[in-house]
Amino acid sequence: MTNPQWNAVDAYFTETIAPADEALTAALSASAAAGLPEIAVAPNQGKLLQLLAHMQGARNILEIGTLGGYSTIWLARALPADGRLITLEYNPAHADVARANLAHAGLDKLVEVRTGPALDSLPQLEAEGAGPFDLVFIDADKVNNPRYVEWALKLSRPGTVIVVDNVVRGGRITTPDPDDPAITGTRELFDLVAAEPRLDATAIQTVGTKGHDGLLLARVVR
Ligand SMILES: C[S@@+](CC[C@H](N)C(=O)[O-])C[C@H]1O[C@@H](n2cnc3c(N)ncnc32)[C@H](O)[C@@H]1O
Repeated sequence: MTNPQWNAVDAYFTETIAPADEALTAALSASAAAGLPEIAVAPNQGKLLQLLAHMQGARNILEIGTLGGYSTIWLARALPADGRLITLEYNPAHADVARANLAHAGLDKLVEVRTGPALDSLPQLEAEGAGPFDLVFIDADKVNNPRYVEWALKLSRPGTVIVVDNVVRGGRITTPDPDDPAITGTRELFDLVAAEPRLDATAIQTVGTKGHDGLLLARVVR
């Protein structure tokens, strides 16, 4: 569900304090032209991710779910010149669009787009000794969110911030639905986080151009 007033408020926030520039706008245009679904984060949400990365002093970021690289651009812009962002994308066509968008944004030296199922890429990252990551943004197939948080923990250090997108799903999160793997996965995610002593977490609801949804935010405490 969307609401004209939520959209107007998002537009006001974006225009006043979180404006998208040419590279971000071009990334959305190129993604739409290539037929990618229009499911990137909103500009003010991208700015939130960038602020979190800056506040965290992030030098090493992991993203799961690239699409056309829109959230990737926001996040990578928080990195220092010697920072690194690895983003994992299942769909090779999405990964190609993202690589072009990141190059257009001048971020291709900082960002690596890895193609393949994230549950294959994550063990490879561990084997390579990648990480620990300072911030992990999880925004891929929701059914695997519990597995992605487990991997984020493996690739973390005390103080790592983990952000999981789309945990409200129009409010449907409160109603178990065995026929909806996204709801099942997200509810399992909350059970996992609740039982995990290494994570200190909260979740917030959001409304806006993305409808009624929300984020889970967690900090690795040990
Ligand atoms: C919501 S979109 C990501 C949006 C992006 N974070 C943004 O805001 O600009 C989810 C992406 O995850 C990818 N994806 C789905 N299943 C995946 C998997 N098993 N491994 C890696 N990526 C996956 C999809 O192809 C899609 O491009």
